[in-house]
Amino acid sequence: MRHVLGIGEIGLERAEAILALVPRMAEVRSRSVPKVAALRGRTVAMLFLEDSTRTRLSFDAAARALSADTMTFTASTSSMKKGESLRDTVETISALGPNALVVRHRTSGVPWQVAAWTEAAVVNAGDGAHEHPTQALLDAHTIREALATESLSGVRVGIVGDIRHSRVARSNVRLLRMLGASVVLVAPSPLQPPGVEGWGVDASSSLDDVIGGLDVLYLLRVQAERITGGAAPDAGEYARRFGLDHARVRRLRPGAIVMHPGPVNPGVESSVDLSRLPQSVVGRQVANGVPVRMAVLLDALAGAGAGMEEE
Ligand code: NCD
Repeated sequence: MRHVLGIGEIGLERAEAILALVPRMAEVRSRSVPKVAALRGRTVAMLFLEDSTRTRLSFDAAARALSADTMTFTASTSSMKKGESLRDTVETISALGPNALVVRHRTSGVPWQVAAWTEAAVVNAGDGAHEHPTQALLDAHTIREALATESLSGVRVGIVGDIRHSRVARSNVRLLRMLGASVVLVAPSPLQPPGVEGWGVDASSSLDDVIGGLDVLYLLRVQAERITGGAAPDAGEYARRFGLDHARVRRLRPGAIVMHPGPVNPGVESSVDLSRLPQSVVGRQVANGVPVRMAVLLDALAGAGAGMEEE
């Protein structure tokens, strides 16, 4: 039983071990009965206290594909509405005996706190503007698949947009650097994170300056719900300076790919339809969410030795 909290705690060796499981998980998903018994008898509880579509659905599909039972907690219909605290809620869910607790919360650090209150393996599904480790793992897998390379050394990734409020950017920077990629963060200065000098990356305020040198163009949503104090950029101005358009698509290197974690603000991050752009791997990111989260749950609960026989 091992927690999956942040990329720093996971470390390179374990991240590689998780990524090495993904092809076996994808093979399971391609079977006519896409389900194995690996986690039969285990229960995965989902504690999503902030909105989610892709992450929650793919954790759910991943748990079921491994034959785990699932429990889903929804804040809007629970006793949290009656003032039950997070700690009471976690202790109540834990008393039902889940083996893993998948946690998303708008406040940074909550999964670490939850890990102190439960016997279950805690999996971070996104905490505030802090970390989103399973997104980074699925993005690393998607980049390797799309560029057809195991090694990311020499690969140049540009992450564009609201870096400051992005847990996806924080986890991706950590993992991509561990895997040998070089990263440039592209944003207007209010959306660059404080202390970016310590991140081991380059920073730029001009997409046009860097776009022609990228192997991966990673677009982020402007997360208006996390921006306080009037610092939100004007959408039109943002689109003009940082949005993907046809002229910028033409400046991409041959073989370069375009990514976005979703949800997309149409017309802001891109005026080009990312679902139709040949360079886009946005659909692969969503699809890879399931086998990558299967690998994460297996690593957390059973280890790589678990059998892949049919249920
Ligand atoms: C991201 C998130 O929730 O952090 N989405 C996701 O998990 N796919 C990014 C975002 O909300 O913009």
